[in-house]
Amino acid sequence: MRDAIANAAVGDEQKREDPTVNELERRGAEFLGHEEAVFLPTATMANQIALNIHGRPGDTLLVERHAHIMLSELGGPAAHSGLLTIGLEGTKGRFSPDQVVSEIRDRTSVHVAPTRVVTIENTHNSAGGRAWPLDEVDAIVATCREHELAAHLDGARLVNAAVATGVDSARIGRGFDTVTLCFSKGLGCPLGALIAGSAELMARARRGKHYFGGAMRQAGIVAAAALYALDHHVDRIADDHARARRLAEGLAEAGVSVDLEQVETNFVQIDVGPDRGGAIERMKKSGVLVSTTVHPTVVRAVTHLDISDDDIDAAIEAIPTALGATRTGVPLER
Ligand SMILES: Cc1ncc(COP(=O)(O)O)c(C=O)c1O
Repeated sequence: MRDAIANAAVGDEQKREDPTVNELERRGAEFLGHEEAVFLPTATMANQIALNIHGRPGDTLLVERHAHIMLSELGGPAAHSGLLTIGLEGTKGRFSPDQVVSEIRDRTSVHVAPTRVVTIENTHNSAGGRAWPLDEVDAIVATCREHELAAHLDGARLVNAAVATGVDSARIGRGFDTVTLCFSKGLGCPLGALIAGSAELMARARRGKHYFGGAMRQAGIVAAAALYALDHHVDRIADDHARARRLAEGLAEAGVSVDLEQVETNFVQIDVGPDRGGAIERMKKSGVLVSTTVHPTVVRAVTHLDISDDDIDAAIEAIPTALGATRTGVPLER
């Protein structure tokens, strides 16, 4: 990837003269099942541009209540696009067509904020990296079509969902109006994201890219990393999933509170009990880095291309010892 970055052909991408960015947008559109794609610095910006092109101030957005858009984008839908966001109660990060329908507001009324956009997150970060089954994705998209709602897929980890379910990213993404993909997660790039959709919507996304300050210059150096990732880092994601599973099973065997059913992709969520900060420190001292989650007693271990089988063995040894004092022994319920 470093070589690809160093050797990238570049140009002014604001003028669409960067051949590497142009190539990434062409391949990215195909990869995500759409006519066109636009290269962006981050997946947060990609989501915010999507919502900005689908909704107008005073419209309503429906999204699962623990989604990244809801929890980790600083109220962006309200701040950037004037959207009222309603958080749907999710199960495993998913919600049903009936939940969407029951929230649809009367667009003819002068009193209410009309429902305009529905977003799903696949895989769902705070649910533990869980993937949506394809029939449920299709059912949400069909409901959006029936009720004339824009459908957006936050596919920051779409590749993990595709590998876990055995369904192509393009097949999962094609029914949506817009799909986003992040290159700086399992795909292992330093930065970069895509938004994909119809040519008409992507013309608006290109304006959004300038509006949100994401138009770059010789961005081919980053696009080259993303192209490298599409060529070399997609299939290997299955290894991350297998390692996460082995980590989860090893920890569960050692008595650590891990919900095995939850482990579908590259996350292992561990319930460390009330002293989460202390547990994180002890794990760090023994060489294992984990991050916090939205659930107050739960931390997240992530497998990725820098984590080897030996690292998993080491973590299976280190984590139970580090958690000895705080382990709850109570299985996660969610
Ligand atoms: C589901 C989801 N969407 C979007 C993002 C934003 O990604 P970025 O850090 O590239 O802005 C994240 C980051 O964790 C995420 O988990």
